[in-house]
Amino acid sequence: MADFYRLLRPLAFALEPEVAHHAALGAARIAERFGIKPFAYTVKTRPVRVMGLDFPSPVGLAAGLDKNGEYIDALAALGFGFIEIGTITPRPQSGNPKPRLFRLPEAEAIINRMGFNNHGVDALIANVKRARYRGILGINIGKNFDTPIEKAVDDYLYCLRRVYPYASYITVNISSPNTANLRQLQSEAMIGGLLERLKEEQRRLIDTHQRYVPLAVKIAPDMTDEQIVVISEAFLQYKVDAVIATNTTISRQGVENLADADQQGGLSGAPLMQRSTEVVRQLHRILGEEVPIIAAGGIMSGADALAKINAGAKLVQLYTGLIYRGPKLINDIYKVLCGVH
Ligand code: FNR
Repeated sequence: MADFYRLLRPLAFALEPEVAHHAALGAARIAERFGIKPFAYTVKTRPVRVMGLDFPSPVGLAAGLDKNGEYIDALAALGFGFIEIGTITPRPQSGNPKPRLFRLPEAEAIINRMGFNNHGVDALIANVKRARYRGILGINIGKNFDTPIEKAVDDYLYCLRRVYPYASYITVNISSPNTANLRQLQSEAMIGGLLERLKEEQRRLIDTHQRYVPLAVKIAPDMTDEQIVVISEAFLQYKVDAVIATNTTISRQGVENLADADQQGGLSGAPLMQRSTEVVRQLHRILGEEVPIIAAGGIMSGADALAKINAGAKLVQLYTGLIYRGPKLINDIYKVLCGVH
């Protein structure tokens, strides 16, 4: 099958990044509604059970591409084994002023400082209810920018209660670099208190809904070895159901001299691959098989995905790789993971 994305990419890249984002997703949604599947590939990969859930394949969509759950069916048609939507906050918010999304094509990287622009948790739920998708759906939750960090737990609890009946798993995002002080929640001083409240609420919700919805925590790649040990011990102590490693980085290693490298925000894509994989390896050394790891960060090829699995990840997620390589990347990864050439 022709690789349509290679034809479309120059067009998309001629547009302002955020315009291209909405144009591409809008087109994918229209195509899906009309039953056109220009990117549907056929190779399937091995199913895997993680967090008590049966994933048809280990390749998923990372959070942030579909923040409001507006494109679930179109994204599912690309062949993902699971889809994560969000980050969503209790109330709608517009995010940072534009421009806030920058391509660094020479490095196959992106810098973003979107700042959790989203329509609020109720709008996301309405979209989820409308979707036909019945596969594994992660819902990623965060806090409003104007909620003080000491009250952040209230925002997470609010979102947790609201999305619980609609999610296969819920991701607690404490690692975006674009919401002031958010990453403080990863610190030794705050992580225990946050996890305790969330797990307590999860227990209540299991009772209410008679269904166990696992809680994953998404972390940053910008932690010291010692900080990784501390947070891992908290994950073990509070029996977190999974850890997602990693979010974007504030480092500019590998892009130093490129245009827009000095833009504020989180860097993603190829330059993040090595560091992010190292975090997975360190986590796995401590967590073993007790807390499964979901890897995100710089996966641009099947070999990259395999490196994540070899470092200890059970599942992988894509974002920036999709922008540079197109939906064909999903199938490229399947081929490598299945040993099909
Ligand atoms: C993101 N990412 C992200 N993560 C998250 O938990 N919530 C979010 O809202 C967003 N938003 C977002 C927007 C944009 C434009 C990008 C590029 C990324 C982070 C994303 O899910 C992923 O963890 C990182 O981008 C690393 O993976 P890639 O992009 O290198 O494959």
